[in-house]
Amino acid sequence: MILLGIDTSCDDTCAGILRDGREVLAQVVHTQIALHCPHGGVVPELASREHLRAIVPVVQEALDRASLTLDAIDAVAVTVGPGLVGALLVGLSYAKALALARGIPLVPVNHLEGHLLSVFLEERRPEFPFVALTVSGGHTNLYAVSGFGAYRLLGQTLDDAAGEAFDKVAKILGLGYPGGAVLEALARKGRAGAVRFPRAYLSPESLDFSFSGIKTAVTLHVARKRAQGGPLDEAFAADVAASFQDAVVEVLVEKLLRARERAGAGALVVAGGVACNGTLRETLRKRAEEKGLDVHIPRPAFCTDNGPMIALTGFYRLQGGQTGGLDTDVMSRFPLV
Ligand code: KG4
Ligand code: ZN
Repeated sequence: MILLGIDTSCDDTCAGILRDGREVLAQVVHTQIALHCPHGGVVPELASREHLRAIVPVVQEALDRASLTLDAIDAVAVTVGPGLVGALLVGLSYAKALALARGIPLVPVNHLEGHLLSVFLEERRPEFPFVALTVSGGHTNLYAVSGFGAYRLLGQTLDDAAGEAFDKVAKILGLGYPGGAVLEALARKGRAGAVRFPRAYLSPESLDFSFSGIKTAVTLHVARKRAQGGPLDEAFAADVAASFQDAVVEVLVEKLLRARERAGAGALVVAGGVACNGTLRETLRKRAEEKGLDVHIPRPAFCTDNGPMIALTGFYRLQGGQTGGLDTDVMSRFPLV
């Protein structure tokens, strides 16, 4: 069974080809960073137009890399939400046309479920049940996962997503868009203990997150330095970046461990774009080792938006008979649970 997975939910045109729900035969990502960078963020209309231009070549490249033709594709899985409506529509329209023309099933997929299950693209797969943290540009969620399709939401952000906070702080520091990876690189040159930014634990029992406070704290810290006439040089920015990253990582890791304690069993899973962050990966591994817990974090290429995670999620949905008709629509908001 060979599935084509497509994701056009935001600013990456992604295609992936997956055999039997396990073996990634190809992965292609056409990123739009250069297009949106001058605007300091994703411009929805530009994103839709670029997806429209890219979708056919991206799928063709995935087929070429897998040495396959469309004849080999048994089903097409596509992200229908959450995301930018115009961007999602490009992927869905392409997938519908392909399903209709080839007489193959169309499998609508929730982008968040794609991130959550991306860990199953790795050779070493977690056993059920496990506790998962999905951290991306749009979401910061904690789930108790007891099987494919069996998810319980344990906590979520009350304001900004963790990735959004990275992007906003990167913008304050003049690092451009998207900021996560650039901020991480700068943080390597700084001191994590230089500034004590607030850690929003909310209450001792809470598994929810809040990142708007730390964003404001960074803004004020930078404004204060400016008012004092101090140099906003690289050393200053690196200290801010390292201290900010340290605070965010600490809260993410501690809340995931708390969630695991609450759930009482299972491995720890982290996925989504922010899971590329080296400090997050290392800190969690270290803390989990101390507690004798098993950790699963996909490789970075499976953490950011990608086609294989959509194909994989589609594979399980298809097994459950969950296909979509030509009346399938996109959803800007699409909670997983
Ligand atoms: O999952 P993703 O590719 O797209 C969404 O579904 O949002 O995540 C993108 C987010 C962006 O906010 C980006 O800044 C963040 O992931 N990100 C990182 C790193 N790489 C990407 N954040 C922190 N450290 C990184 N190395
Ligand atoms: Zn994503």
